[in-house]
Amino acid sequence: MGLKLCKRALTVMVGLCILSTYAFGGEVEVLHWWTSGGEAKSVAVLKDLLEKEGHTWKDFAVAGGGGDAAMTVLKSRAVAGNPPTAAQVKGPQIQLWGDEGVLAKLDDVARAEKWDELLPKVVADVMKYEGSYVAVPVNVHRINWMWANPEVFRKAGAQPPTTWEQFETAAKKIKDAGFIPVAWGGQPWQEATVFEMIVAAVGGPDFYQSALVDADAGALNSPTMVKALEVLKMIKPYTDKGAPGRDWNLATAMVIQGKAAMQFMGDWAKGEFTAAGKMPGAEYVAMPAPGTSGQFLFNVDSFIMFKQKDPGAQEAQKAMARLILQPEFQKVFNVNKGSIPVRLGMPRAPFDDPALRSMNAFVASAASGGLVPSMAHEMAVFPATRGAIVDVVTNYYNSDMSAKDAAANLASEVEAAK
Ligand code: GAL
Repeated sequence: MGLKLCKRALTVMVGLCILSTYAFGGEVEVLHWWTSGGEAKSVAVLKDLLEKEGHTWKDFAVAGGGGDAAMTVLKSRAVAGNPPTAAQVKGPQIQLWGDEGVLAKLDDVARAEKWDELLPKVVADVMKYEGSYVAVPVNVHRINWMWANPEVFRKAGAQPPTTWEQFETAAKKIKDAGFIPVAWGGQPWQEATVFEMIVAAVGGPDFYQSALVDADAGALNSPTMVKALEVLKMIKPYTDKGAPGRDWNLATAMVIQGKAAMQFMGDWAKGEFTAAGKMPGAEYVAMPAPGTSGQFLFNVDSFIMFKQKDPGAQEAQKAMARLILQPEFQKVFNVNKGSIPVRLGMPRAPFDDPALRSMNAFVASAASGGLVPSMAHEMAVFPATRGAIVDVVTNYYNSDMSAKDAAANLASEVEAAK
């Protein structure tokens, strides 16, 4: 009798198991570019949560900060008719993928989870194509940060700068003391990242909006733009010979190790300090990039989902979309990544001081008009325009082109790309 019962229970359990695998377990192949120490730790959280729900995560990481390499790979996979299940894609590009008719709609998850209530409207609008959710946002990064090693500043008798004039004074002292003033990653997207911080500093948010969001030819070829380009070039003598081609996280490591005094980079750099066990305030200092304290250049990471035939893959996609906006993921991921939650109303307690300041700045800058989308990180303009701006900036920074010529080129190249 006992044996019979046991057998029956076993049959039921096996049956349930098969059923649940069929109904729920599916594979998601996820394309992303989160390969640095802090980034990998962050994305692993999503993998774990999905696997706890019985799904399989097939990692499709394409190294290369800023995602330019990942986007090239994504396009070739899509052209071959074999896109991944989910891909890290941001900003206006989401609309271009929507136009292709390849995206899965996430409206049922969005309705059940009340995304319209959980997300700032500006963010929700970017995630929708023709009124339907086709992408899920992960976080909010602030671009305009300076990461400083206070020990290096102390040894050089210099103060962390709050203006670009102060920067020059400090950088001279740091160089004289035998340190590298600026940890520079000489890759086009990183040069564009510093450039946009300087445009915001020199011109303010209204000028930033005209030049780098509206891509207005008059603003691009203007005395203000010339000034911004001059400031960018002024940094160069304060970088080292190893800068060309250097990855952003290796530049962050130079600040962590006390070889360099500062880096200008978005707050994914904080993920590297966190992964290295460094404490903000004591072991490193996070300040707004010089001249940008009331401003917030924002960068929202998100995932699009490609249409799937396999029901398991569809379930896995929905689970991924749901998990991304749930409080547990929003907390752990963003604490590790250096960003702040995109989900509204999250408890502030688990976040460190730079994150809390970022949260405050996000709200304050939205009210003051200082909240602007990042051009370098695909938030502001379509890829062709962004590509034209990045090319001119990097050509200018790496040659002896004059700032005046560079400003004129910006206007003409952007017009040609439109
Ligand atoms: C940004 C992205 C961040 C971070 C950074 C460096 O574009 O939004 O999440 O990964 O690139 O790769």
